[in-house]
Amino acid sequence: MSRNVVVTGSGSGIGAALTALLRARGDRVIGVDLRGGEIDADLSTPRGRAAAAAAATGAAGGVVDAVVTCAGTSVPGTATVTVNYFGTTEFVAALRPALAAARQPRVVVIGSVSGTQPTDPDVVAACLAADEDKALAHAERAVADGRARRLYPSSKAALAQWARRTAVAEGWADAGIPVNVVAPGIVLTPMSAGIFDDPAMKKAMDAAVPMPLNGYLRPEDVARAVLFLAGDDNTHITGQVLHVDGGAEATLRGPAHF
Ligand code: NAI
Repeated sequence: MSRNVVVTGSGSGIGAALTALLRARGDRVIGVDLRGGEIDADLSTPRGRAAAAAAATGAAGGVVDAVVTCAGTSVPGTATVTVNYFGTTEFVAALRPALAAARQPRVVVIGSVSGTQPTDPDVVAACLAADEDKALAHAERAVADGRARRLYPSSKAALAQWARRTAVAEGWADAGIPVNVVAPGIVLTPMSAGIFDDPAMKKAMDAAVPMPLNGYLRPEDVARAVLFLAGDDNTHITGQVLHVDGGAEATLRGPAHF
């Protein structure tokens, strides 16, 4: 049966690959992106998120079978907070009524293996407290102090914790809505392209994200894992972070962390 799937960041990289796979199997994709999707929206602002969620709910006739949030940025600045974290959490929360109306609703958010790495604890705490102004203030301070590189991992660590907490909060698992994270290693998309232009940067990334199994990911490799978690076959998996990373997380954190 065709499902209504809302995909943020549908215009590029992982979101575009997922959109193509979903459409190929007959699902209806409502793409949300800065421009060029079914819904043009800026998820970095509360107003943009609310408008996008209302438009997506309307386009889906009030019934959203799955939401997958791929919109994101790795530029080390405040947009990691506004787009990666709040652009997912507020958007997904606003779609909860339309998800609850679906037969087998699913939520998948795209995290990152970088979420396992050192973070800015103040940014993470403010995100999890849903205090966007405070999170932004901490992020601006991190940029000013030369600690901006911790912002992207911070946004993804906070996102994973939000997903795990939300998954078992009232109104989600008990309403039949699983919430999971797919956390990729390095994926060959426009986001990562800059890394490969600079040999020193590539060497540093290869050391930071070791991927012994099959090397770098193609966007469709990530999209296929999302398809399972966002589909009817996933009946009981919720609150999980699935690292699709060629062994990076297992290498970095070791066998005792599971
Ligand atoms: P991409 O740059 O190819 O696509 C990101 C999409 O998000 C673009 O279409 C962009 O327009 C959209 N977007 C950015 N800001 C937005 C905003 N304010 N409002 C609405 N849409 C916005 O990136 P890619 O690689 O496909 O990334 C997708 C997700 O995967 C991101 O969350 C990223 O952090 C994550 N990821 C990517 C990795 C990689 O190596 N490429 C590794 C791990 C995680």
